[in-house]
Amino acid sequence: MADAERIAELRLALLGEHSSNAIYSRLRRDAPSRAIELTRDQLAREHEAMFVATKGQRVVGVLRCIDQRGHRLLRPARFALISTVYVEPAVRRQGVLRSLMEAAVGWSRERGLTEMRLQNAIDNPLALAAWDALGFRVVEQIRLRPI
Ligand SMILES: CC(C)(COP(=O)(O)OP(=O)(O)OC[C@H]1O[C@@H](n2cnc3c(N)ncnc32)[C@H](O)[C@@H]1OP(=O)(O)O)[C@@H](O)C(=O)NCCC(=O)NCCS
Repeated sequence: MADAERIAELRLALLGEHSSNAIYSRLRRDAPSRAIELTRDQLAREHEAMFVATKGQRVVGVLRCIDQRGHRLLRPARFALISTVYVEPAVRRQGVLRSLMEAAVGWSRERGLTEMRLQNAIDNPLALAAWDALGFRVVEQIRLRPI
């Protein structure tokens, strides 16, 4: 909980890197204060966890993992949903995401989960490369149409 403000900063930086995306570019004006409140709420939940990577005292990366209920007609009943993944530019390509994922896999297995899922922006080449490298295959698309 002591890292909430810093985590909120990182999640805003994550959105800042999606400034041309159709969904994630539409930042609310009060997003900075909402980000702190949202982060505190999420940190307090029992069925999810935020993993942080530190360099010295500084939090340089974050990854959120949720014990998520699956579709009621399908197996598995629950899966691990990965969200809010960000590593500071200065420490990228040094295995920070790999370490965060390792921690999330351990947490998920301890809870009996056997599968991970996530969404990524189609126009984010870093995310595409990283998730491919970490073994996530594409199984669904999100489409958007203004009405
Ligand atoms: C995507 C991101 C989290 C990766 O974090 P990272 O700590 O740099 O990742 P790692 O160093 O653990 O890299 C893991 C693997 O992903 C692949 N990868 C990561 N960045 C890459 C890049 N820029 N180009 C090509 N492959 C890349 C590599 O295969 C890498 O393994 P390798 O270095 O042994 O070859 C980071 O670039 C980031 O925060 N980007 C902006 C936010 C974002 O895209 N978040 C994900 C939203 S879904």
